[in-house]
Amino acid sequence: MRRMETAGHRRLWEAVLVMALVLGVLQSASCVTFEVKDSANKTCIMADLSVNFTVEYSAGTKQAKASFELPGDSTVGSNSTCGKDKEAPLLVIVFGNHSLSINFTKTDAQYQADELVFTYNLSDKVRFPDAAENGTKEVATNNSAIIAKTNFVYHCINPHQLILGNVNLTFYAVKLEAYLNNNTYSKNESRCSEDATPTSAPTSAPTSAPAPSPTTVPVKQPDVGEYRVNDSTGAACLLAKVGLQLNLTYLRSDGKVVFKEINIIPKNMSVDGKCLNGSASLTLSSKEVFLSFNFTLNTTVSKFYLGEVNLSTTIDDAKVPKFTQENGSLLYLQTTERKSYKCNSKQTFQITENFSIDTYNLQIQAFDINENKFGPAVECAEDQNGMLVPIVVGAALAGLVLIVLIAYLIGRRRSHAGYQTI
Ligand SMILES: *[C@@H]1O[C@H](CO)[C@@H](O)[C@H](O)[C@H]1NC(C)=O
Ligand SMILES: *[C@@H]1O[C@H](CO)[C@@H](O)[C@H](O)[C@H]1NC(C)=O
Ligand SMILES: *[C@@H]1O[C@H](CO)[C@@H](O)[C@H](O)[C@H]1NC(C)=O
Ligand SMILES: *[C@@H]1O[C@H](CO)[C@@H](O)[C@H](O)[C@H]1NC(C)=O
Ligand SMILES: *[C@@H]1O[C@H](CO)[C@@H](O)[C@H](O)[C@H]1NC(C)=O
Ligand SMILES: *[C@@H]1O[C@H](CO)[C@@H](O)[C@H](O)[C@H]1NC(C)=O
Ligand SMILES: *[C@@H]1O[C@H](CO)[C@@H](O)[C@H](O)[C@H]1NC(C)=O
Ligand SMILES: *[C@@H]1O[C@H](CO)[C@@H](O)[C@H](O)[C@H]1NC(C)=O
Ligand SMILES: *[C@@H]1O[C@H](CO)[C@@H](O)[C@H](O)[C@H]1NC(C)=O
Ligand SMILES: *[C@@H]1O[C@H](CO)[C@@H](O)[C@H](O)[C@H]1NC(C)=O
Ligand SMILES: *[C@@H]1O[C@H](CO)[C@@H](O)[C@H](O)[C@H]1NC(C)=O
Repeated sequence: MRRMETAGHRRLWEAVLVMALVLGVLQSASCVTFEVKDSANKTCIMADLSVNFTVEYSAGTKQAKASFELPGDSTVGSNSTCGKDKEAPLLVIVFGNHSLSINFTKTDAQYQADELVFTYNLSDKVRFPDAAENGTKEVATNNSAIIAKTNFVYHCINPHQLILGNVNLTFYAVKLEAYLNNNTYSKNESRCSEDATPTSAPTSAPTSAPAPSPTTVPVKQPDVGEYRVNDSTGAACLLAKVGLQLNLTYLRSDGKVVFKEINIIPKNMSVDGKCLNGSASLTLSSKEVFLSFNFTLNTTVSKFYLGEVNLSTTIDDAKVPKFTQENGSLLYLQTTERKSYKCNSKQTFQITENFSIDTYNLQIQAFDINENKFGPAVECAEDQNGMLVPIVVGAALAGLVLIVLIAYLIGRRRSHAGYQTI
């Protein structure tokens, strides 16, 4: 009896091994690696990616839909470039008469796929049977949401879908890095939001992060408030969920420059705001503090951003007690319309030299808001890296549990079968 069981288990492990090998092969089959090098043979862009294309086109009098994958024999186009001086690096992937080009831009902190252009040739009658035209078409987007920290590799296992008019691109199993340092991927990863957030469950637990070092800062983390500003019809034009801490630098009456932190206590604030054409504001006021945020919509790129912050308060021990600060030329929290910006990690926004705001558990959206609820979240890079370890550990554990469960079930069935035949 015992011998039969071990034989059964060995067969099971063989099956698991074969399955793992098959999965491995299947996964690597559709994933293609691309490298762009400069004249000195230094790699500036490296990418492993899989892409599924769905293209709607007219076939005769009807609309047809072509679905195909990025083929394994796709190549790096000769017009790819690392970019000289301020030119943007560009990766052009070529297959058949079609091409997918991605150019990159960066700031000090992060880089992103800026413009993504897909050019396809309807003369390809294998992919576009019965196409009514023979010419080439071009679709593009400036909102790829492919973004990573500088010297981090962008990693996205889950499907990341981009809609470019009549073309749907689904990227998956993507590893990609631009502005490469050592001709190979960096060790650190920025994970995409698709990998980071399994559901869009709101996480507002302010108790979850214990203050690590209460050495100099006696002020505790601010409570998270939820704010909503309505237009004349009662629909929301601004939604914000955020814990706010203000940091003021001022001249004390004894002549010393000191700083003071003020937590915004949501239940003490009266909430107001305006929805205008192209701008939306949120004002939080109490007896002690008046704080306003003004968001602007850039219609040419369909993005909203925080353009202006005003603060007015009184500081008792200051040489000049009345403390007012404003900056109307900000460009913070830039986010594509109909999406929300999310950052659970602490973020610091410098408003003026003497005034900064720390945010905790931030989620914000302005203008076109569907059903008064947050749209899909664009998560900040800080959150994505914080999520990586739990995800990897979680996935590994889930896999382990599954294997043990299968082993157990098959083992059971085999030993049952054993009893019956004897
Ligand atoms: C560039 O580097 C590759 C290996 O990374 C090497 O095979 C090739 O010969 C190099 N080409 C030039 C022009 O240096
Ligand atoms: C991509 O297309 C292939 C073949 O049609 C399909 O098996 C696979 O599930 C697709 N993957 C995604 C992420 O859409
Ligand atoms: C489109 O494909 C056809 C057939 O392969 C080719 O003759 C034509 O030059 C292509 N058009 C462009 C702009 O590449
Ligand atoms: C496209 O080109 C093919 C071959 O060159 C030709 O047979 C077909 O009639 C052309 N279709 C259209 C819509 O021009
Ligand atoms: C993307 O931005 C570039 C430069 O700002 C512009 O020329 C192009 O038309 C934009 N593309 C789309 C699809 O908005
Ligand atoms: C906006 O409408 C919601 C729901 O009707 C309400 O709870 C909220 O107080 C309103 N916001 C403002 C600033 O009046
Ligand atoms: C407040 O701002 C001052 C000056 O910029 C800075 O030194 C201090 O660390 C800040 N405090 C917090 C809690 O961020
Ligand atoms: C909003 O502004 C745009 C252009 O700035 C204008 O075309 C539109 O009519 C305005 N809408 C309203 C309701 O004022
Ligand atoms: C936001 O700021 C702009 C530019 O200063 C101003 O024209 C607009 O009225 C402000 N919007 C609100 C709602 O206060
Ligand atoms: C909108 O964004 C584009 C591209 O970033 C910029 O060139 C333009 O000046 C912006 N327009 C406004 C009104 O901010
Ligand atoms: C307003 O913010 C911008 C961008 O952060 C900064 O360059 C500028 O110095 C600030 N203006 C004032 C008056 O602090």
